[in-house]
Amino acid sequence: MDKFVISGGHKLKGTVSISGAKNAAVAILPAAILSDGICRIENIPAISDITLMCRILRDMGANIKMINKNTIEIDPTKMTFRETPNDLMRGMRASCYLMGALLGKFSKASVCLPGGCDFGTRPIDQHLKGFKALGADYNIHSGVINVKCEDNKLKGTHIYLDVVSVGATVNIMLAAVKSEGLTVIENAAKEPHIVDLANFLNCMGADIFGAGTDVIKIRGVQELKGVTYSIIPDQIEAGTYMAAAVVTRGDVTIENVIPKHLESITAKLEEMGVNVETFDESIRVFCNKPLKKCNVKTMPHPGFPTDMQPQITALLSTVEGTSIVNEAVWDNRFRYIEELRRMGAKISVDGRLAVVEGIETLTGANVSATDLRAGAALIIAGLSAKGKTTIDNINHIERGYENIVEKLTSLGADIKHVSDIFSNEEDVSGI
Ligand code: EPU
Repeated sequence: MDKFVISGGHKLKGTVSISGAKNAAVAILPAAILSDGICRIENIPAISDITLMCRILRDMGANIKMINKNTIEIDPTKMTFRETPNDLMRGMRASCYLMGALLGKFSKASVCLPGGCDFGTRPIDQHLKGFKALGADYNIHSGVINVKCEDNKLKGTHIYLDVVSVGATVNIMLAAVKSEGLTVIENAAKEPHIVDLANFLNCMGADIFGAGTDVIKIRGVQELKGVTYSIIPDQIEAGTYMAAAVVTRGDVTIENVIPKHLESITAKLEEMGVNVETFDESIRVFCNKPLKKCNVKTMPHPGFPTDMQPQITALLSTVEGTSIVNEAVWDNRFRYIEELRRMGAKISVDGRLAVVEGIETLTGANVSATDLRAGAALIIAGLSAKGKTTIDNINHIERGYENIVEKLTSLGADIKHVSDIFSNEEDVSGI
């Protein structure tokens, strides 16, 4: 089993460039099957979730061509209806976007219940409520969701989401974009990846208005044309490098970002006493004074993102004073804290609250990535810790971070990708 081995204590310095947004790409790739032509998608992050999504789409009959590691061409014009490959679907949460995309394309979908990071119950009732309102019936048999619109004509409707859900907003947009008439999603998610998906669909000829606000209006169109589109930079990858810079009390410029998407993260770092300089497409973070504790509550966008909660908790574990972290989106996203405790972190958890008592120095230990962002938090902890940290289960981290070893190494970190077949911790990151 591969591992990351980090020797902590090196200040990060320099410049790092952010890749395309995972959570936009995993929505835009399935959206491309709604096109009546070939789509070329650029700035796709080279991560394992994308490889998996491409395998699923290929299995479904789409012609996928890798132009280079960050550009993919999708030709869905020869696709005919088939069930999704169940073994592959279980590997990622975003595979559930096939439900909306297939429903939009064929007026029916048979999709295995999705997998992905495990942080409590991950219901899809709001997705199904949306499909039903559009005129599709569904049943669930042996872990497969079958959704079908009997008269093959999904009809525009009014849908109020009971919870703000990224996944339900994406799925309803995908199903409604070629339906008849007007669909209005109220209490919609406002994340940057929702706006990116709407922009992609609008480039193809869709008529979507209001993405980025909590009311999205979708007027169904008959045709969507093939386009070339470039994915936005990854907000969470950028935030992760900001936290990594700060935990080592370093000085890092993060390029290829949309600073507006980072405002909630920037605000919290500034509250802690970090200097953040914002430019058009880059952001510099550096520390020249002791940091202060701060409280964080996760919320849907534009609130502080839950996908940055483990990383900021790892950072706060090294900041003097008691900080409270309130996870208000997921009911069980603190499993990684046990791993941080192995490194000496003083954190107690009570339901959705973590009480973090900052200590001067974490200590390297053998730890395990319990999910993607948990893995990122352990890297952040390891970068600041005294001694050696070994992280296993790094497949979780590789789902969402392109070239993380190379990027951190270029900033001065001592991090190696080590395979068990090499006994002497040889660097195998290039293999
Ligand atoms: N929820 C429901 N019913 C539903 C859908 C969601 O009650 O039908 C609840 C969930 O239980 C949760 C909340 O609504 O408490 C938010 O869930 P949401 O549907 O927004 O999450 P998601 O679409 O499954 C996406 C991201 C996650 C990110 C969340 C929240 C993708 C592929 N995944 O998940 O990203 O945590 O939104 O922002 O976009 C990650 O990148 O590490 C990651 C886990």
